[in-house]
Amino acid sequence: MWIGQALYHKDVRTAGSHNIGTTNVYRVLGPVAGTIVLAMDILKGTLGASLPVMFGYHQHWLILVCGVAAVVGHTASIFIGFKGGKAVATSAGILLAYNPGFFLIASALFVSFILLTSMVSIASTSAITIVTFISWFGYHDPLLTTIAGVLTVVFFIRHRANFARIRAGKENLVPFGLYYWY
Ligand code: G3P
Repeated sequence: MWIGQALYHKDVRTAGSHNIGTTNVYRVLGPVAGTIVLAMDILKGTLGASLPVMFGYHQHWLILVCGVAAVVGHTASIFIGFKGGKAVATSAGILLAYNPGFFLIASALFVSFILLTSMVSIASTSAITIVTFISWFGYHDPLLTTIAGVLTVVFFIRHRANFARIRAGKENLVPFGLYYWY
């Protein structure tokens, strides 16, 4: 939102999906602004989750709780009346800090779903759901499963408007992927 206002004199909350996240910034302001916002939102989650380690605390539960605090700050920002984004990039930032390998798996899932459906909303909610199952059945990490489960619920709540648009056949598509092409 601040990138749009400062560099483009445009408030993304008044255009596109009205969301402040990467997808809508990309949609409204283009790839440069979208990439900047993506990097900053991922960094927000990564820094939040890394904070305990910087102060010498390496407990996994503390890393995840601090990461979730960054997500809460992102989705209910005190700077814009407790409104905010849909938690996707910031959650990815938590995974990057907690387990980079798992971040790559989640990113691969996300990109695969975009290439299939051309919808970032479907890709985001599908990827976090599968991540939750993989963290349990593949990594046997109950703590990560709990946090991923909580984030899955947050993702589904924050994407309510997207699901309504999908049902109405009006969801915004990215200009690539199988669904867009065919
Ligand atoms: O990053 C959020 C994404 O999943 C959907 O964004 O703008 O299409 O609602 P948007």
